[in-house]
Amino acid sequence: MQKIGVIPGDGIGPEVVAEARRVLDVVSEKRGLDFEYEVFPLGAAHYLKTGEVISEETIQRLSRKNSILLGAMGDPRVKPGVLEKGVLLRLRFHFDQYVNLRPVRLYEGVPSPLADASRKIDMHFVRENTEDFYVGLGARVKKGLSSNSMQLTRRAFEAKFDVGVDLSEGDELAYQIGIISKHGARRVVEYAFQLAKTKGVDLVTSVDKANVLTEAYGLWREAVEEVSAKYGIRKEFQYVDAVALHMVRNPERFKLLVTPNLFGDILTDLGAALQGGLGLAPSGNINPSGVSMFEPVHGSAPDIAGKNMANPIGAILSSGLMLETLGHPKAAGDVEAAVRTVLSTGKTRTPDMGGRSSTSEMGDSVIAALKKT
Ligand code: NAI
Ligand code: MG
Repeated sequence: MQKIGVIPGDGIGPEVVAEARRVLDVVSEKRGLDFEYEVFPLGAAHYLKTGEVISEETIQRLSRKNSILLGAMGDPRVKPGVLEKGVLLRLRFHFDQYVNLRPVRLYEGVPSPLADASRKIDMHFVRENTEDFYVGLGARVKKGLSSNSMQLTRRAFEAKFDVGVDLSEGDELAYQIGIISKHGARRVVEYAFQLAKTKGVDLVTSVDKANVLTEAYGLWREAVEEVSAKYGIRKEFQYVDAVALHMVRNPERFKLLVTPNLFGDILTDLGAALQGGLGLAPSGNINPSGVSMFEPVHGSAPDIAGKNMANPIGAILSSGLMLETLGHPKAAGDVEAAVRTVLSTGKTRTPDMGGRSSTSEMGDSVIAALKKT
C-alpha cells in the first residue's frame, strides 16, 4: 500500500484534483494498485479561519506519505505569496524536491499557437528546484544607512559585499543573489541523464547564460561535463535566450532540457503555451529518494473557479507523473494513453481549448477512454 497526501488547495485546485482522483481510482482498480489517500485542507479557507498557513504537525504527517498530489494555492483574499510561498515553497524546500519535472508535449488535436500546426513538440524539462535566484538571499540598501556595506539577510551568509556601485544620497538599490552549488547542480543533472537513459532520449540540452553570468553558470557547466561523461548520451550547451528562440522556431530539436531554476521557470511557461495552454501542463516536484509532490503548472485561476470549466488535464497528467515516480509505469502509460485518445478525438474540449465541455465532462471522457484500453 502506498500513502498519498492530497492538498486540493484554492480556486480550481479542488475541481481539477477531484478529476485526477477519479482517474487514479479507475487506473488503480485496473492495475491492482493500492493507494490510501489523506486529504489536507490547506489554503485560503484554512488560513483565514485559523491564521495558520501550515503547521509543523501537518508537515510531519505529510513526511510519512509516499507522495503528495496538489491542486493550486493562492486566493485574492490573501496577500500574494502568503499561501504560495508558505505552502508550496515551504514543502518544496522542506522535502528537498530538487527536481522540477515538466513534460511539454503537444498532443494531436490540441490547438497550437504556432502557425505551422504540424510541429512535433515533445520535450521534458528538468528544472533545478531549490537553488539559483530562489534561495531568498537579497536586500535593499539605501544611501546613509550603515555606511556602504551591505548586510546579507541570511545569517548563514555573514560576509560583507562590496559591489562597487556608487549610491548617491537618497538613492536606493536592491540585490538578489543566485547560488549554484556543485552538489546541487550535479544531482539534478544526474537525474536528467538518468531520465534520458530511461526514456531512450539521445540528446540532453543544458541551458544557461554562462557567457554573462560566468561564475554561477560556469560551475553549472562543469557539473554537466562531469556527470554527462558517465552516460555516453549526446549533450549540448545552449544559452537561455537561444533556447527561447528555438522553442518557437524549431521546437522539434529539443528532447530533454536541464536548466537552472529561474530559466526553467520562464521557459516552461513558454512550453505551456506551446503545448496548448496552462490547463494542459503537468509537473512534478521530485526528490528521488524522498517525498515528491505533483501538481499542475497552473495556479488557482480565481477568474474561473467554482464554474466547473477548468481544464483538468494538467492535474490528470500530473497524477500520471506521480504513478510513474511511484514505480507504476504501466498505470502511468494508461493515463497518458487515455488523455491522448480524448484529445485527439477532439469531442471533449474545455473552454480554454475553444470548446464547451465542463471539468467533470473532461474527467468522464478520460475515464471512459481508460476503461476501453
Ligand atoms: P493561473 O495559472 O491561476 O491563471 C492564469 C490564466 O490561465 C487564467 O486566466 C486562468 O483562468 C487560466 N487557467 C489556469 N489554469 C487553467 C485551467 N486548468 N483551465 C483553464 N484555464 C486555466 O495564474 P494567475 O491568475 O497568475 O494566478 C492565480 C493565483 O494562483 C495567484 O494567487 C497565484 O499566486 C497562484 N498561483 C499558484 C500556483 C501554484 O499553486 N502552483 C502557480 C501559479 C500561480
Ligand atoms: Mg512559473
